[in-house]
Amino acid sequence: MYTYFSGQELLPVDQKAVLITEGAFDEAGGCDSGFGHGLAKYLDELGFTVFAGVLDEQGSGAEELRRTCSKHLSVLQLNITNTQEIQEAYSKVKEKVQNKGLWAVINNAGVLGLPTDGELIPMTEYKRCMAVNFFGAVEVTKAFLPLLRKSKGRLVNISSMAGGVPMQKMAAYGSSKAALIMFSSILRQELSKWGVKVSVIQPGGFKTNISGTSQMWETLERTVLDNLSPEVQEDYGQDYILSERSLLRLMKTCTDPDISPVLLDVRHAISAQSPFAFYAPGKLSYPWLCFASFSPTGIFDYLSRKIHSYDKKMPRVLSTSNWENEAM
Ligand SMILES: NC(=O)c1ccc[n+]([C@@H]2O[C@H](COP(=O)([O-])OP(=O)(O)OC[C@H]3O[C@@H](n4cnc5c(N)ncnc54)[C@H](OP(=O)(O)O)[C@@H]3O)[C@@H](O)[C@H]2O)c1
Repeated sequence: MYTYFSGQELLPVDQKAVLITEGAFDEAGGCDSGFGHGLAKYLDELGFTVFAGVLDEQGSGAEELRRTCSKHLSVLQLNITNTQEIQEAYSKVKEKVQNKGLWAVINNAGVLGLPTDGELIPMTEYKRCMAVNFFGAVEVTKAFLPLLRKSKGRLVNISSMAGGVPMQKMAAYGSSKAALIMFSSILRQELSKWGVKVSVIQPGGFKTNISGTSQMWETLERTVLDNLSPEVQEDYGQDYILSERSLLRLMKTCTDPDISPVLLDVRHAISAQSPFAFYAPGKLSYPWLCFASFSPTGIFDYLSRKIHSYDKKMPRVLSTSNWENEAM
């Protein structure tokens, strides 16, 4: 209790410098509520010196940040899958922060891909999820750690509830987020001797641009269909594959548009004297993470099936009555 309460005091902001990997605000997608974009604005308002790493520094998102934030916010070109861009961003940040140092790195950039059965997800999508959600975050972390060790600062990695709770249709995304959790947990132990504190954020469902646009879904569906063998395509059926859009639609409608729980948790992770190792913002994130960790597998799988019962569509072969006889 003493450790818990004594560590809750927030350190002064004092224009501490933070780097956020955030991608871009997507005007075309009609959504300006991504965590990275929201964090850049929120931390700028609080008085942090923000470095916002974006996919396109000339894009509308970067422009919007420059227009609306203080002069302490800098926009950096930073595709986290591009080693050269990471190195260039590192040099720029190092030059700008000089002796003041970099206080925190927030690895936020991420991709979801098309949620569908693990057997149907093309290898390119597994690799893309790992490239951005895991290797990208690892490479940014490795590049900036010398600065964080100097400041005895904070590393905050935005994983997901899906990295701790097995969720159907999320094999590519969930695995990459689980890898990020394990990486962060090991670094938390290793970096404690340097005074660097590591936190993982595991948000539940929030309404951002992560679920993509209908144009993106079409491209992803095409990629899925183009990569299936005739045998798998025959077993699942095109209708089943195309029905996966309903999950993305559901994600758009049933998720929380208020991202403030995520912003508050990240703020706590970079400001509290003793930040938590894990945060689970979002209504059901914490109960689900506990339930997945402690309940017997059979019970968890049963409930998970019940929750997925909105998805009545079955693969073509399973919806025909003679499947069990054929399998015998
Ligand atoms: N929203 C949720 O419910 C939820 C739940 C759990 C975890 N998360 C995690 O929270 C983080 C932020 O997601 P969000 O919900 O705010 O969605 P978002 O608005 O789509 O933000 C993700 C950002 O990452 C960017 N990005 C993609 N590839 C990149 C790359 N190679 N280099 C740099 N940036 C790249 C995207 O840019 P483009 O838009 O230009 O592709 C996008 O701006 C992600 O890691 C996500 O997995 C979100």
